Amino acid sequence: MPATVIVGLQWGDEGKGKVIDSLAGNFDAVARFNGGSNAGHTVVVTGTTLAFHLLPSGVLQRKKLLIGNGVVVDPEVLLKELEEVAALNVPVDLMISDRAHLTLGPHKFRDRLEEGRRGSSAIGSTLRGISPTYADRAARTGIRVGDLADDDSLKLAFETFGAWNRALLTRVYGEDGETIAKDSFDRLKEVAGRIRPYIADVSKVANDILARRGKLLLEGAQGFYLDVDFGTYPYVTATHTLAQYAPAGIGVPSQSIEAVLGVAKAYCTRVGAGPFVTEISGQMAESLRKKGAEYGATTGRPRRIGWFDAVAAKYAARASGVTELVLTKVDVLGGLDRVLVCDGYLDGDRTLTEPPSSIVALRRCRPHYREFEGWPDLTAESWRKLGKEGAYALPAKLLTFVEAMRDVVDCPVGYVSYGPDRSDIVRLS
Ligand code: GDP
Ligand code: IMO
Ligand code: MG
Repeated sequence: MPATVIVGLQWGDEGKGKVIDSLAGNFDAVARFNGGSNAGHTVVVTGTTLAFHLLPSGVLQRKKLLIGNGVVVDPEVLLKELEEVAALNVPVDLMISDRAHLTLGPHKFRDRLEEGRRGSSAIGSTLRGISPTYADRAARTGIRVGDLADDDSLKLAFETFGAWNRALLTRVYGEDGETIAKDSFDRLKEVAGRIRPYIADVSKVANDILARRGKLLLEGAQGFYLDVDFGTYPYVTATHTLAQYAPAGIGVPSQSIEAVLGVAKAYCTRVGAGPFVTEISGQMAESLRKKGAEYGATTGRPRRIGWFDAVAAKYAARASGVTELVLTKVDVLGGLDRVLVCDGYLDGDRTLTEPPSSIVALRRCRPHYREFEGWPDLTAESWRKLGKEGAYALPAKLLTFVEAMRDVVDCPVGYVSYGPDRSDIVRLS
């Protein structure tokens, strides 16, 4: 029963979309299992760039697409994305879990209001309503995709949802909860008919694919350090991002997982607030940001930049059971004299080799770096030429770095990605 999970090992934006699009050709279906439209997964195919927020990144490979129960679905975003893909004449074979929760207008209001209430300790949310949607799921006040199946179900689900959201928006935040809830209900009735054809029991569909010996690619959103438990809490998202949430977020057995690919950039980025031990600023950060186009695919915000954090990556790879690393954006570091990798956290007179869970402790930590010689800055064409010859044609100093990654992260490196295009990736073993 072969399923492969792809997860980010850092703070999101590791290049998961690109890797999924590159590998999807070998699978029968691609299934998203967590997060919502806070995700932005970029896919580049011969000059055409698309960023998917809810549709699984196997779209352009024309694979069967599944959105699992673990995802929170903003119907407005989804419909817009479907329109964009239709405009490219790409057929979409999509099924959305009847058990996935809907992100609606009140959630987006609440996200913005709550960030405002937190003031200087705001999380830096994408303001896509994600945390309020997961909060309603846990509070049993949410609306699920399956509730759109008919008018009676929708009305019933909206009673509880509407009452709670009206009360919260009005009494806690002093907003016009009545109007916000009513507008959201009216709009939901308008769009329900367009979502209805996609509603399915995704767990059953996915298990049927596995039973036929089909292959599933399970697509994670965000990254390990945005996990609601394992991330730098409270500066995290509201769902699990570790690989073990994949079977739960779709409804397939954990024994079906035969491989876990952990995607990590050759440096680190983070959007939003929260501790970031290897963060750098100034000229170096600015030039990596420009060269790596490190601006949010969802919000356009400049991403914070730092050196590769092997303390964090090793912990993430171990906890998620990563079987192979996918090292991305090595081209962006090309041309540097030296490349740094953090292999320990200095906390006073102690050196930590495991990341502490507390943000207070993390903020105290300073990086201990191991230094590597840099590799040349190549044109996209030169990278492609070398990549086509096979991994061992890559620059020698890059190969030394990749070898060292295996040791410091304690995980084999399966692929190296050297450009944004689907074809810019090479298998290592
Ligand atoms: P995701 O959220 O993990 O899917 O990553 P994003 O799409 O948000 O951000 C990754 C960015 O890096 C996108 O602009 C990709 O097109 C780009 N990208 C992915 N892999 C590579 C690579 O190996 N080299 C370069 N230069 N860009 C890459
Ligand atoms: P992909 O799938 C990078 C970050 C936000 C913020 C925190 C909480 O493209 O890797 P939320 O809106 O979830 O309440 O925001 O999480 N965040 C991401 N950062 N990539 C993402 O997704 C992210 N999804 C959420 O910037 O710091
Ligand atoms: Mg992204």
